[in-house]
Amino acid sequence: MRILLLSHSFNSLTQRLHGELGRRGHVVSVELDIADSVTEEAVTLFRPDVLVAPFLKRRIPESVWRALPCLVVHPGIPGDRGPSALDRAVLRGEAEWGVTVLQADGEFDAGPVRAWRGFPMREAAKGSLYRHEVTCGAVEAVLEAIGLVGGPPAALAALRGQPWPLLRQAERAIDWARHGSAEVLRRIRSGDGNPGLADALFGQACHLFDAHPVTPAALAAAPPGAPGEVVARRANALLRRTVDGGVWIGHARRAPTAGPPDDEPPLKLPATDAFTEQAAALPELPVPLRRDAGEWDELHYEELGPPGARVGVLAFEFYNGAMSTRQCRRLRDALGEARRRDTQVLLLTGGADFFSNGIHLNTIEAAAQREGDSAADESMRNIEAIDDVALEIISMTDRVTIAAMRGNAGAGGVFLALAADEVWAHEGVVLNAHYRNMGNLYGSEYWTYLLPRRIGPERAQALMHERLPLGARAAAELGLIDVTFGSGGAGFLRETLARAQALAGQNLISRLAQKQQRRAADEATKPLAEYRREELAQMHRNFYGFDPSYHVARYHFVHKLAHAWTPRHLAVHRKQ
Ligand code: COA
Repeated sequence: MRILLLSHSFNSLTQRLHGELGRRGHVVSVELDIADSVTEEAVTLFRPDVLVAPFLKRRIPESVWRALPCLVVHPGIPGDRGPSALDRAVLRGEAEWGVTVLQADGEFDAGPVRAWRGFPMREAAKGSLYRHEVTCGAVEAVLEAIGLVGGPPAALAALRGQPWPLLRQAERAIDWARHGSAEVLRRIRSGDGNPGLADALFGQACHLFDAHPVTPAALAAAPPGAPGEVVARRANALLRRTVDGGVWIGHARRAPTAGPPDDEPPLKLPATDAFTEQAAALPELPVPLRRDAGEWDELHYEELGPPGARVGVLAFEFYNGAMSTRQCRRLRDALGEARRRDTQVLLLTGGADFFSNGIHLNTIEAAAQREGDSAADESMRNIEAIDDVALEIISMTDRVTIAAMRGNAGAGGVFLALAADEVWAHEGVVLNAHYRNMGNLYGSEYWTYLLPRRIGPERAQALMHERLPLGARAAAELGLIDVTFGSGGAGFLRETLARAQALAGQNLISRLAQKQQRRAADEATKPLAEYRREELAQMHRNFYGFDPSYHVARYHFVHKLAHAWTPRHLAVHRKQ
């Protein structure tokens, strides 16, 4: 079939469908939803058999849905309608939810249901549910619906949903004098990643994101305070008291000031960066890297298995997979600590939603607004810091290292994973193993060493040039990663731990000797320092040179500016 993906942006679900449909032999093209006339033009040029809309904010033009079947993904159960479907499901504390594929007609989200999937809800942010349960169910439902195109609508047992208007901030507002921690968490999570929950910190209006529970131990160590008061910090997060405990707030976006209209709009930032001065005055509540998993921090390390067959597991739960200079330095130190432990295998599990998305473009953008600093300087500091993380992994030759992708990875985050000996991923993972979408960024993280040694120089060149997302299976077929198994979530982690423990129980002496020989031989041929020097020379040009493309692309990305056209590598119908 010829399938046109019409989407507000080329988001993770659209990327996943792009890969899944392409892998099944369909001819797939993408048009971003910019204007009705552009969509009509795309249909004329591409002549699709069916249009699939994974993520839309506007209606499909009547001329299009009357001309061909248009399948719309709605992140809600059948009968549910409206733009805040998942927000409301989280806010109401639904135990089960679903995703529906409808055939578009005159009314928004109201056409005949073609397929749907249900799932149990997790206590997680809306964005996390979207990236896992909704995406997984949507892929299955879209594939089923495409098979049914032209036939009768799916038979439905019961329609439980109903139409709902846009969720207003007043409906999810926190009453700090009344709401307990669980309620506060649910409210913040209902709007995370977007639009966030409108509230205030230190008396200043802002939106809250990235909330986590606080343990009684942390509360006991923190200074006293009234409900709503911020009393301590940990890494980039703030501890805010509630009536029955407290919550960690990892990210915040300040409200625009009443300054001149050309002031830059505020960015979503690590909470201690959004409120630097106020956070600096708070006591830090540090925790050891190796501790009970219920005690929240971005970094966590644990060990499994008996001495001599031991696995170290290092998780780095960086919000949105973005890794700032400070986060990279913490991760490098954590790797150093893990290295001093007597383990045979080190498993790097990244974050549950993203393995990593490379350097932190928001904290870089924020540096441009800081006196005496610049985005170019912060970009350089950040890339050096992430390179240090990659170097620490590459040079860990006394044990087997494995990157286990629980979530998607993009740009430098993919190459960070390739620094490990093996890369494992579940089948729903999408990899963007290229940098050029960010204003022709050259990239670092030792990719010029790591990528060709896995897939050869020609395929490395093509991958970087094509700039397309790869599903995990396609990545494994290419040799970019080693193996895929499971479909994500807790099941993938369980199997990963079991596989790592089985590996640690093997005799690894000759494998490690080979690893050390190969590293020594590679170093003799061309030292890692030379790869880094060459990559950073190119990056220096991207950051400080005449061509501002990287700075422009980053600005567009962090401020989420609307697309003006669909990139040609996605809109294949516009290539001719
Ligand atoms: N720095 C800061 N924020 C980042 C980020 C980064 N490197 N990568 C992703 N994010 C944020 C997005 O802004 C978005 O924020 P939100 O919560 O405010 O909506 C969130 O992570 C999810 O990203 P989104 O683009 O919606 O996810 P996706 O799964 O649809 O797309 C990518 C994934 C990787 C293709 C896309 O996020 C991307 O291109 N990221 C930039 C990668 C990059 O160029 N890194 C720098 C070079 S190493």
